[in-house]
Amino acid sequence: MLNVRNLQAYYGKSHVLHGVDLNVQKGEIVSLLGRNGVGRSTTAKAIIGLVECTGEILFKGNDLTQLPTYRIAHLGIGYVPENRDIFPTLTVEENLTLGLKSRTPTGWNYEDMYRLFPRLKERRSTQAGVLSGGEQQMLTLARTMMGDPELVIIDEPTEGLAPMIVELVAGFLRELKGRGTSILLIEQKLTIALEISQRVYVMGHGHMVFEGTPDDLRRNKLVRQEWLEV
Ligand SMILES: Nc1ncnc2c1ncn2[C@@H]1O[C@H](COP(=O)(O)OP(=O)(O)OP(=O)(O)O)[C@@H](O)[C@H]1O
Ligand SMILES: [Mg+2]
Repeated sequence: MLNVRNLQAYYGKSHVLHGVDLNVQKGEIVSLLGRNGVGRSTTAKAIIGLVECTGEILFKGNDLTQLPTYRIAHLGIGYVPENRDIFPTLTVEENLTLGLKSRTPTGWNYEDMYRLFPRLKERRSTQAGVLSGGEQQMLTLARTMMGDPELVIIDEPTEGLAPMIVELVAGFLRELKGRGTSILLIEQKLTIALEISQRVYVMGHGHMVFEGTPDDLRRNKLVRQEWLEV
């Protein structure tokens, strides 16, 4: 479904991605792991057209490299950035409405989101800007799903959240998995990533240093020590 080959990206003169290869099959959950600063978020941004890059990015046979982000979104890729991205002056429900790609919800609807995140229902008429960090994260996830993406790229959804909210987000990811949505999950928390993924990549400095199943990674102490543990 998503095939990335030899992705290279620069910020000015600094060469950040050195030939990233990755793929995600339809219905597959794939995690992208790695230490801070190795280029995981840059990889996500390059795929959805927010960072200039060279290489090959194919999604359902379409070449994404020259497309603007809104076209990529319309092809069916959702993106949840690492900095909770809400419209602060709009209400929770208005934020959800802005996630829709057509006037009526197709796959996911408001009630699905309020069932998964009851707190959003309680605060549906509240301005999003006054929500807590955890609530803003829930809203960002929910808004992205309102667009009914076939593949969703989620960048560190549990970072900095209290354990109870982390569990809510994990439940949300499990529901996506149950519905057959493809996910590229960028995570630091190994337990969640290994539980829900079919496959994992570990990124070193700008390229992949490991690809395998969660069990392969559990068994590979060398990779964990060299590229994951701090
Ligand atoms: N806008 C930018 N301008 C210049 N350098 C950047 C920019 N964004 C990221 N970088 C640099 O590119 C490298 C990769 O950053 P990236 O955000 O992709 O890392 P990451 O793996 O997502 O790590 P983390 O999210 O844990 O910080 C880092 O060295 C970072 O400092
Ligand atoms: Mg990042």
